[in-house]
Amino acid sequence: MLAKAMTSHIASLDGKRRILEVGPGTGPFTKAILRKLRAGDHFDLVEINQTFCRKLEKDVLAPYRARHPQVTVRLHCAPIEDADLAGPYDAIVCGLPFNNFPPKLVRQIFRRMFALLKDSGELVYFEYAGVRVLKSPVVDSDGRARLKRIDAIGKSLRRKHEGKKELVLGNFPPAFAYRLTGNAAAKSKRKA
Ligand SMILES: C[S@@+](CC[C@H](N)C(=O)[O-])C[C@H]1O[C@@H](n2cnc3c(N)ncnc32)[C@H](O)[C@@H]1O
Repeated sequence: MLAKAMTSHIASLDGKRRILEVGPGTGPFTKAILRKLRAGDHFDLVEINQTFCRKLEKDVLAPYRARHPQVTVRLHCAPIEDADLAGPYDAIVCGLPFNNFPPKLVRQIFRRMFALLKDSGELVYFEYAGVRVLKSPVVDSDGRARLKRIDAIGKSLRRKHEGKKELVLGNFPPAFAYRLTGNAAAKSKRKA
């Protein structure tokens, strides 16, 4: 359910598409993306965890490449902050758990992703519904302050990048998929 919401926009993109997935883990979103790719498309994935990289490569990517030699699929086992990637991408699908990260890293990662995204492209990320309400009572005051700052970063990005949110109730736990447009939206807002 969440994988469908996170990847639905890819099918509507024309021509040869360049797609980036950030933090694929064991690949639930990856599999949904692969189903939408066509000959000539380019798909990069960036995953920091070596164990997930090995498993994803063996179970999902290598078998896909063998069946679809005209699609380029590259897994980069590295952090998104400094992975060797060449944008621009038409779409970025991000599975990172931002509420577990320091705010400075959240900002750094979004800056990197927007630098890699086409001005007309779309970036999708998610968070579980109510995650801050659920976490707040079990973290200390520093933790609560950190969660508030991450919430503020998300709100500011959604204002700048014409954010749209979709509640995916059929997922367990329910989650919001957030869609942000590339820098074209942010530039036209600055002009207005
Ligand atoms: C919550 S999991 C999401 C996996 C998958 N999309 C899902 O829904 O199951 C987040 C993944 O991001 C990876 N990750 C965390 N920080 C990262 C970073 N800075 N760069 C790339 N991947 C990262 C983790 O190793 C993990 O596999």
